[in-house]
Amino acid sequence: MMKIGILGAGSMGSGIAQVAATAGHEVVVFDTFENALGNMKTRLDKILNRLIEKERINEATRDGITSRIHYGQSMDDFADCGLVIEAIIENIDIKKKVFAQLEAITNESTILASNTSSLSIASIAAACKNANRVIGIHFFNPAPLMKLVEIIPAIQTSEDTVQSAKAMIDSWGKLTVLVKDTPGFIVNRIARPFYGEALRILEEGIADVATIDWAMTTIGGFRMGPFTLMDYIGNDINYTVTETVFKAFYYDQRYKPAFTQKRLSEAGYYGRKAGRGYYDYNENAVKIAPTEDTNLGKMIVNRVVCMLINEAVDALFWQVATQEDIETAMTKGVNYPKGLLAWADEKGLDNVLKTLEDLQAEYGEDRYRPSPLLRKMVRENRVFKSL
Ligand SMILES: NC(=O)c1ccc[n+]([C@@H]2O[C@H](COP(=O)([O-])OP(=O)(O)OC[C@H]3O[C@@H](n4cnc5c(N)ncnc54)[C@H](O)[C@@H]3O)[C@@H](O)[C@H]2O)c1
Repeated sequence: MMKIGILGAGSMGSGIAQVAATAGHEVVVFDTFENALGNMKTRLDKILNRLIEKERINEATRDGITSRIHYGQSMDDFADCGLVIEAIIENIDIKKKVFAQLEAITNESTILASNTSSLSIASIAAACKNANRVIGIHFFNPAPLMKLVEIIPAIQTSEDTVQSAKAMIDSWGKLTVLVKDTPGFIVNRIARPFYGEALRILEEGIADVATIDWAMTTIGGFRMGPFTLMDYIGNDINYTVTETVFKAFYYDQRYKPAFTQKRLSEAGYYGRKAGRGYYDYNENAVKIAPTEDTNLGKMIVNRVVCMLINEAVDALFWQVATQEDIETAMTKGVNYPKGLLAWADEKGLDNVLKTLEDLQAEYGEDRYRPSPLLRKMVRENRVFKSL
């Protein structure tokens, strides 16, 4: 079986190493920071022992996984790897430097992949003389639990590299979707309004945090409300992703970040990890009760879901991914209760278009402009199911 190299032993690197070793590969992990490898080993032992307690794996399986993970001394230990996945700091200059080094160390046939969430794969690949073996393989956090993996070929990537990378990740029991090398790929692009429109509704004073979360879970059927989820992800991280996508789309107003989240992030109110975010997580904190007004709740859900649908339709319009992969990504990657295009059919495309047009007329903002594909589908009286 092919040996796998993992560069970076942080949250993502250790999760991906666990997945590859569980699938039976010998794995080499390297990190430039002295304590990172030791910390990863301690973390991994804890995770595997918990899986034994829950009777998900037995001791022999744990021992097999840990014996297949090797902690490298330098990047030279990747020399005989067939696939190297980079999961280091999200910085284009550092990633480019590292990819040039990886190219020099590995065989010509080794696939070099980046787990970047927001950088262009084309720019990372450009650091290599032979860029056709570079690709994006984007896992979600925590990698062992999240089934979805986005596969992102750069314009330089060869078809062989795409097929081999996809086959490899599929063989690890993951669900892969193929995505064009565009900002936010599928999930981090389409999901923006889940946070952004909820923040907008809050900032306008239409409803408070608890009420919006109540509406989105109880009426919308989402597993977590947007504010609970932002607190869980971390407001610093969620804000940075939004800002990165906004800038990468040449400041398209659809992705404009909210001051509320920026201030929370600046204040250190990151969410759960800081004990405070939109909610207070301290022991004696008073729980805020939502206003359980069904009409208000339905209005909130309709507004956020129509914005999400518009993003999904627009991603399809720009051929970011196939219809099937867009639906898979949002249901399996972020556990949405339904595929957004199926949801659009169910709501009636004319109703979705009307909601967006009403918002655009009310606010006069480009933020609410409907996707050309949505307009076309309504004009031709078509549904996504029949596409
Ligand atoms: N955390 C997430 O939710 C998530 C999800 C998907 C993708 N990503 C992406 O995965 C990558 C890693 O994210 P993370 O959350 O695991 O970060 P992290 O900070 O937990 O870990 C990064 C690790 O890389 C190491 N490192 C930094 N520079 C290095 C270098 N030059 N050589 C070797 N090791 C180096 C650091 O010591 C650290 O251990 C980023 O590109 C991020 O955008 C993160």
